[in-house]
Amino acid sequence: MRMLGHEGSLGDRPHREESKMRMLGHEGSLGDRPHRVFIHRSVIYLFYATVSMVIRVISVVVILGTLAECRIPSISKLNNFDYPAINCRKHSAVLTDFGGVGDGKTLNTKAFNSAITNLSQYANDGGAQLIVPPGKWLTGSFNLTSHFTLFLQKDAVILASQYESDWPQLPALPSYGRGREKPGGRFSSLIFGTNLIDVIITGNNGTIDGQGSTWWDKFQKKQLKITRPYMIEIMYSDQIQISNLTLVNSPSWFVHPVYSSNIIINGLTILAPVDVPNTDGIDPDSSTNVLIEDNYIVSGDDCIAIKSGWDEYGIKVGKPSQNIIVRRLTCISPKSALVALGSEMSGGIQDVRIEDVTAINTESAVRIKSAVGRGAFVKDIFVKGMDLNTLKYVFWMTGSYGDHPDNGFDPNALPKISGINYRDVTAKNVTIAGKVEGISNDPFTGICVSNVTIEMSAHKKKLPWNCTDISGVTSNVVPKPCELLKEKEIECPFPRDKLPIENVQFKTCNFQSSVF
Ligand SMILES: *[C@@H]1O[C@H](CO)[C@@H](O)[C@H](O)[C@H]1NC(C)=O
Ligand SMILES: *[C@@H]1O[C@H](CO)[C@@H](O)[C@H](O)[C@H]1NC(C)=O
Ligand SMILES: *[C@@H]1O[C@H](CO)[C@@H](O)[C@H](O)[C@H]1NC(C)=O
Ligand SMILES: *[C@@H]1O[C@H](CO)[C@@H](O)[C@H](O)[C@H]1NC(C)=O
Ligand SMILES: *[C@@H]1O[C@H](CO)[C@@H](O)[C@H](O)[C@H]1NC(C)=O
Ligand SMILES: *[C@@H]1O[C@H](CO)[C@@H](O)[C@H](O)[C@H]1NC(C)=O
Ligand SMILES: *[C@@H]1O[C@H](CO)[C@@H](O)[C@H](O)[C@H]1NC(C)=O
Repeated sequence: MRMLGHEGSLGDRPHREESKMRMLGHEGSLGDRPHRVFIHRSVIYLFYATVSMVIRVISVVVILGTLAECRIPSISKLNNFDYPAINCRKHSAVLTDFGGVGDGKTLNTKAFNSAITNLSQYANDGGAQLIVPPGKWLTGSFNLTSHFTLFLQKDAVILASQYESDWPQLPALPSYGRGREKPGGRFSSLIFGTNLIDVIITGNNGTIDGQGSTWWDKFQKKQLKITRPYMIEIMYSDQIQISNLTLVNSPSWFVHPVYSSNIIINGLTILAPVDVPNTDGIDPDSSTNVLIEDNYIVSGDDCIAIKSGWDEYGIKVGKPSQNIIVRRLTCISPKSALVALGSEMSGGIQDVRIEDVTAINTESAVRIKSAVGRGAFVKDIFVKGMDLNTLKYVFWMTGSYGDHPDNGFDPNALPKISGINYRDVTAKNVTIAGKVEGISNDPFTGICVSNVTIEMSAHKKKLPWNCTDISGVTSNVVPKPCELLKEKEIECPFPRDKLPIENVQFKTCNFQSSVF
């Protein structure tokens, strides 16, 4: 355990711990062997050599060997660095301090768990950061702690174990009533946290590789007994930053904040093959005050899906997803949406602001999915500035998504969909401009579409728009929308105020290697 740059405030105890830890670190490290060899040789020479010259030469070798040894611990190989974060930490450790081995083969679950357990003791003393250095760090799932930063350096790769036994099981989420894919529980995510405050997962574009292929394969062959794990799940937590990382091949969803608040997710490159099941990029679920910006996502499912629980379970828990901003997102998702709202929305979804987003070769743009039995609402959704190229649907809303957790859903629980605003959209190579379908005794209302230019593809459907059970207005839209959207001189609204999450200031934090 190293205490960096805080000697003054912590007295001399940390110094002792520090030197103890360094010495421990040498045992079994390469530095240890030359040392013993040199002592052994010098003893022999002291006994048998009479030429003082030889002794002097040996002494020099011993001293050089000792100096070389001081540079050997992993810590001294790490350079100092700065990074932006919502909070900086007083204490630091490197994964290798806890026995981590970055050879891509050794399982590091214990190293992560003991490091984080140890660092959790500093939660109320300035917090701690755990540095994952360059290397391939194979691990099963592990849990985060409060006032904690996990920092992945460039060329650090966390590799997820492909053995189910390395993934503990968790009970179903209360707002889902069961696993999303199977009744019963579910596998814990690779990186999991619950009931936390102030958690950061960031890095200099280090990588987390879910090695999802075995999971996708088992899922498709129906060999799994419970629901697949996500890559990162943070539950019942406040103040979360997930930034500047590359996330690849999650077994299922990538990033899942649930029942949480004050979340910033930025600078992520999220990559999965476009034909694998349920690899959603970022899924804010029953969460409030979420800022998602500057991300690049290629996925087999929705790049972003905003959710809030499933039918009677979600209604009972009643936690909405609200005050959510998505901007500067680039998405490639040939089978799904740039941003989906739902289909699980039974806690409600409101005040979502989506701005300056791009989709390429994607099935649909900002899509609403709901069903009878979901209840709750999707309202006050604002979209401004979409640049779309090669889409099946630009506007797509569905009130008959189905997909129920069980037969216990309430057929009278109708979702209220209202106040859905889109403006400033350009789209090219589009098959269907709009398929906007409400529910027969429960129309979707307050839909507004303005300043939209859609170039249809050569394979376009005869009818570019098809609307049922909806109402709303439209202005300056090409091709001409359906009759149910009334022509009106209007600029669809987009809020001018800022949400509190937009005012969070990043601090410049640093990691300092020890000074000898
Ligand atoms: C955590 O670190 C402290 C300080 O170095 C050390 O005394 C303690 O033994 C460690 N605890 C565990 C559980 O590793
Ligand atoms: C992680 O947290 C979950 C939920 O609290 C718990 O069931 C699990 O045992 C924890 N895992 C470890 C390694 O502590
Ligand atoms: C991070 O790494 C990914 C994958 O190599 C790369 O595509 C992306 O451009 C990198 N991001 C930055 C900011 O360097
Ligand atoms: C992410 O990395 C970029 C540089 O690629 C940097 O400008 C930005 O401040 C970083 N942000 C966070 C929150 O890590
Ligand atoms: C219409 O949308 C385009 C982007 O698609 C934007 O550049 C332009 O400023 C918008 N026009 C008005 C009048 O808002
Ligand atoms: C247009 O979309 C079709 C699919 O509908 C795709 O096959 C084709 O490559 C796209 N063309 C261009 C120029 O992007
Ligand atoms: C329009 O949508 C409705 C409802 O989904 C469907 O029944 C109808 O066949 C569609 N019409 C055309 C022309 O595609």
